Amino acid sequence: MTYATTFQLIRAHGGTLINRVLAGEARAEELGRAGGLERIVLSELNLADLEMIANGALSPLTGYMTQADYTSVVHDMRLTNGLPLTIPVTLAVSAEQAERIQIGQKVALVEQRADGEHILATLHVSDKFSYDKETEAKEVFRTTETAHPGVARLYRQGEVLLGGSVWLVEWPQRVTTEFADLRYTPAQTREIFLERQWRRVVGFQTRNPIHRAHEYIQKTALEIVDGLLLHPLVGETKSDDISAAVRVESYKAIVNAYYPASRVLLGAFPAAMRYAGPREAIFHAIARKNYGCTHFIVGRDHAGVGKYYGSYDAHHIFDNFAPDEIGIMPLFFEHTFYCKKCGGVVSAKTCPHDSTAHVVLSGTQVREMLSRGEALPTEFTRPEVGAILMRGIQQRVLDN
Ligand code: ADX
Repeated sequence: MTYATTFQLIRAHGGTLINRVLAGEARAEELGRAGGLERIVLSELNLADLEMIANGALSPLTGYMTQADYTSVVHDMRLTNGLPLTIPVTLAVSAEQAERIQIGQKVALVEQRADGEHILATLHVSDKFSYDKETEAKEVFRTTETAHPGVARLYRQGEVLLGGSVWLVEWPQRVTTEFADLRYTPAQTREIFLERQWRRVVGFQTRNPIHRAHEYIQKTALEIVDGLLLHPLVGETKSDDISAAVRVESYKAIVNAYYPASRVLLGAFPAAMRYAGPREAIFHAIARKNYGCTHFIVGRDHAGVGKYYGSYDAHHIFDNFAPDEIGIMPLFFEHTFYCKKCGGVVSAKTCPHDSTAHVVLSGTQVREMLSRGEALPTEFTRPEVGAILMRGIQQRVLDN
């Protein structure tokens, strides 16, 4: 379908929205050939990355990074062609499996399901290399501590990386079973933005249920653009994060009650969290550019965990790049919270009162209150979301 437009959507990173999905005859042939190939069972992270390589969310990547790109991304936050990219997207295998794979060969990437292995894609192996996990941890996560969930995952993965392009022949199972109604591909969000004539669209990344501070920064941003893409992440997160199901349920409740439908699109972002703070903020921004957003919200401690990053490191990292290299415009927000004296959500920039007037709750405090069956203050969370969180916590207690 085409729409009469007088504007162009923002170009994907690198200029072209990648599509690595095979269909029809080509798919049948590739699948036929894939049966006899060496199989690599994909991790949760690999599955999320594969979905996003295939649908173009990680444009310009067409597969997993080769050594030259990997090294350049780890040390210089750029691909070898100079394009900014801050997170390595890699496929790790054990040294033993790597022995069986030769450069130039194709391998099958498979998903382990309840009923056995399913071939999802083929990888043309154009590179095979060992790498230094400690260097990657230091550069990407700024720490080598295994208490950091991203570092822990890196240290658990295989010793050898395979680089090369992929072709998808089947989507991961989750694409049809989890949040299927919200799992718009970048091509689909772009189509919707065109249809709604949204020239400027702000993207919002989140791994949490929506609180008043989130709502405030989203709506403040929406005041200066045409549309808002609410894009909760639904890939793997650490075990004590609120589940994607609860996160998405809270968004559905709030969007219906407090957001104008004509200005907001709720979509699911398939990525797994890396918890790489500043580096992941750039990665998140670039991915949202691929979804067609022109602006991206970066608040306090974006994609952070524990005390590994300064509250505004994710703002400062953008200074390493010229604005047109990133393409999407970051909108930076300071820590925001409700102030009883101001009677609204504020930040240190806009509120003169001291902390006694402020309603600030940590994640731990929120969990403790909910576990005791105490309702969260409405200045902190809308009652609709409070009720969903309470049910979520009680369900978790019942499940354990
Ligand atoms: S994140 O890992 O996805 O960044 P979260 O869902 O908590 O975690 O945050 C989503 C976005 O909102 C991020 O840009 C984050 O910096 C921002 N944010 C979250 N809480 C606040 C707050 N109280 N004040 C300002 N920005 C915030």
